[in-house]
Amino acid sequence: MPARVYAPTPRNLRLLSAALKRGELVAIPTETVYGLAAHALDVRACRRIFTAKRRPADDPLIVHVSDLRAAEQLAEFNNGARVIARHFWPGPLTIVLSKKKIVPRIVTSGQDTVALRAPAHPLARRLLKLSGLPLAAPSANLFGYVSPTTAEHVRLGLGGRIKHILDGGACAVGVESTIVDLSQPGQLRLLRPGAISAQELLAVLRRAGLTVRVVSGKTPATVLAPGLLDQHYSPHTPLTITPRLTAAQRKTAGTDPMALIFQRKPRHASGANVFWLSATGRLGDVAHNLYAVLREADAGKFSRMIVEAAPKSGGAWATAINDRLRRAAGKRSHQ
Ligand code: TXA
Ligand code: MG
Repeated sequence: MPARVYAPTPRNLRLLSAALKRGELVAIPTETVYGLAAHALDVRACRRIFTAKRRPADDPLIVHVSDLRAAEQLAEFNNGARVIARHFWPGPLTIVLSKKKIVPRIVTSGQDTVALRAPAHPLARRLLKLSGLPLAAPSANLFGYVSPTTAEHVRLGLGGRIKHILDGGACAVGVESTIVDLSQPGQLRLLRPGAISAQELLAVLRRAGLTVRVVSGKTPATVLAPGLLDQHYSPHTPLTITPRLTAAQRKTAGTDPMALIFQRKPRHASGANVFWLSATGRLGDVAHNLYAVLREADAGKFSRMIVEAAPKSGGAWATAINDRLRRAAGKRSHQ
């Protein structure tokens, strides 16, 4: 049976909350991307996530919670982690901490740490509250493909494999959460860049009087996590990245089998192979549109796609956008 897409009415939210309690999967909107949610303490429910997404068992899941109190049931918080959670939750930040026993091994792929996030999206929060459950939820796409930022993206990828999709419109942020490992007191390890930068996290910790060392690179355990590996979030059409589309490339607009993806709507290029990531050039808009545009260009059956990188001076947004572009292009991410 194809998936049903639910409008966010109170009745539907109650229905979906009951489905989650029964161990069923529900695709839910968050402010970053859509997640494929299941009862995080129900091993069979979590197994269904891996099956539906064709996700390898060694790629651990993020557990979504209402707030710090719910998170403390699942992981060992230190002072730094508490300060960060109080400041940035609910929001697009995932914190990796030592897990408590109650978290099943399937969620963490056997690791001793668990990734936790309190999402800000009102519908995700309503479902968390209504169900009273922690919800394990990776992005709601088939493993390896571009993350979904609308209910329709979810339906296209998983519509034949899951029953329930909650429609909350387009995700505001558009790229996945920042992931930071705070499991070692006094140490901050950035695992995935997102809307919130390591500098912002550091500033908040310093203001709270905590001294923290930023360490880079992955732990031996996280190196094994395919979600953090290089080729991921990838469209089917081969993608290359360029600092700026050249005049010669711009001239191919309307004629070439190669899709041209601009950062900003071009003034003098048009045609079926011309795409842009934002009308304004604002990087928040670029992030918001990024996956929808990559999917649209990918659906155009071009032989290749070429995309302009975000300007290096663009702060956290640029870092996150260029990280996802590198992964989509299958290049080393240097993170
Ligand atoms: O914005 C987001 O984070 C979205 C929404 C749905 O919340 N979720 C998301 O999940 O992007 P997913 O599974 O596509 O990416 C989660 C990443 C994976 O790459 C996984 O390797 C990493 O989090 N992860 C999960 N648990 C971890 C842990 N204990 N240590 C290190 N990395 C972990
Ligand atoms: Mg994912």
